[in-house]
Amino acid sequence: MTTFKHFIFMGAGLFIASAVAATVHAADRDAANYVGIKMCGICHKKEETGNQLAKWQASAHAKAYELLGTPEAKAAGAKVGVADPQKSGKCLKCHSTAYNWTETVQSEKINVEDGVVCESCHGPGKTYMAKSTMEDKQKAYAAGLIHPATQSCERCHNNTSPTWKADRYTTKDGKKVGFDAEQAYEKIKHPVPAKK
Ligand code: HEC
Ligand code: HEC
Ligand code: HEC
Ligand code: HEC
Repeated sequence: MTTFKHFIFMGAGLFIASAVAATVHAADRDAANYVGIKMCGICHKKEETGNQLAKWQASAHAKAYELLGTPEAKAAGAKVGVADPQKSGKCLKCHSTAYNWTETVQSEKINVEDGVVCESCHGPGKTYMAKSTMEDKQKAYAAGLIHPATQSCERCHNNTSPTWKADRYTTKDGKKVGFDAEQAYEKIKHPVPAKK
């Protein structure tokens, strides 16, 4: 459970700094190094080690592109002058890793249709996904693997989203907020189970 605490702990202070964090982040993700969901899935689909692929497939992030085809999305798009959300960088910048927070495709290695994949949170995989690197945590983080903190969620979960609801979450102390990292993380978590 310590890793989860780490996630929340990092988050508390960074909530305030998220505007700054967004700028800092922009430089540390080289679009040429993205590999796509299939590559991560090759190794991350075993039940013994947590089957992160299946957990991702069951999460909202896997459907982020599909969602843009719904009548609800078209209605949200119409309000901001977007006719087809599935073709607009204004939506895909947060609804697909391929756009990498810009309004144009940044990586051809990622299918736009795959929505928000592992690398939006863990960083582009080419530099760290070799077996010998992945098996050694220290090496993997040194090679660019990202241990996501709240700030990485807030690059998308923020009030510039056209469907932002400022009262989507209710915190433990009864406050209404647009995003609560702790509760949101519970819905998408995919840990490696502790070895017995
Ligand atoms: C060649 C196999 C392989 C590939 C490809 C691979 N991984 Fe891994 N990864 C591993 C292994 C092995 C571990 C160690 C934990 C385990 O046994 O699952 C690991 C661990 C991790 C961890 C946990 C680090 C920690 O702090 O414990 C993350 C996050 C991760 N991988 C993300 C990814 C992402 C994202 C991709 C795709 C870009 C990817 N991996 C591709 C084999 C792989
Ligand atoms: C700043 C990032 C961002 C941008 C830009 C963005 N979205 Fe989203 N969108 C999100 C997030 C994050 C969610 C998940 C709900 C949440 O936490 O706000 C979401 C959810 C949605 C939903 C589901 C409604 C809901 O309340 O959950 C629709 C529909 C949607 N977006 C449409 C669009 C359309 C259409 C565009 C382009 C005009 C767009 N989005 C642009 C981040 C974004
Ligand atoms: C929306 C962001 C997001 C996406 C998408 C995502 N992850 Fe994660 N991942 C996280 C967070 C947050 C953690 C928890 C970090 C912590 O424990 O502090 C995590 C943890 C992990 C861990 C476990 C590390 C441990 O110590 O148990 C592995 C392995 C992993 N992710 C692999 C993947 C793979 C593979 C994919 C794609 C199939 C993926 N993740 C998609 C955010 C994400
Ligand atoms: C690259 C943009 C992006 C990042 C980074 C991101 N998300 Fe999301 N997230 C989305 C979009 C877009 C949706 C809406 C997809 C849908 O509903 O199909 C969404 C939906 C969700 C949902 C379902 C809606 C809800 O609030 O219940 C949860 C939970 C969630 N994300 C948690 C997280 C967490 C936790 C992190 C950080 C570890 C994170 N997300 C990082 C884009 C992102």
